[in-house]
Amino acid sequence: MDVVPEAIDWARQQAREQGIEAHFTVGNVVTLSAYADGFFDFVFDADCLFMIIGKDRKTCVENVFRVLKPGGIFYAKAHLVNEKIKIRTRLGGKNYFDPKGQYSTVEGLPMYYFSREQEFKDLIEGAGFKILHYRTNPKPAARARVSFYAADMWIEAFRPIPRNRF
Ligand SMILES: C[S@@+](CC[C@H](N)C(=O)[O-])C[C@H]1O[C@@H](n2cnc3c(N)ncnc32)[C@H](O)[C@@H]1O
Repeated sequence: MDVVPEAIDWARQQAREQGIEAHFTVGNVVTLSAYADGFFDFVFDADCLFMIIGKDRKTCVENVFRVLKPGGIFYAKAHLVNEKIKIRTRLGGKNYFDPKGQYSTVEGLPMYYFSREQEFKDLIEGAGFKILHYRTNPKPAARARVSFYAADMWIEAFRPIPRNRF
């Protein structure tokens, strides 16, 4: 899923060229409004949640919980913030990193969110998920000079099965 139709056109083209059978859809991951409760077995965050900022992050993860079947898996990724950066950092043009809001901007607009480790775990657990595994990975070498971006973090979590189902 992507909110930008051109991104979905590109994904469809890639899948066709690689002979992969897949369904792609234009939509908003915050609401996931096209999907009924318990629709999916597995939700994979392909670098999308870090573009969701503010209260929408909680709404998004709650809706991922909603659309997963009990026992379903959510694989979520965060870009971790370098908490040592305390002052607003200019990035060129109108762009900056805001350490209070924990986001960087594109064309002066908040665009990418950088989470703290515990904050990310709390976000996932706060929606009702149980965390199975988590790990931090070094950030990509191409981002070595991005001072406010510390590392990546992956969480594998599941939607618990209510006890009264057995
Ligand atoms: C870093 S790109 C990743 C693109 C692709 N998923 C991949 O793995 O290559 C982040 C994508 O998230 C999309 N996006 C941002 N906010 C979104 C939202 N609320 N709903 C759906 N897609 C969103 C953007 O349009 C952008 O294509």
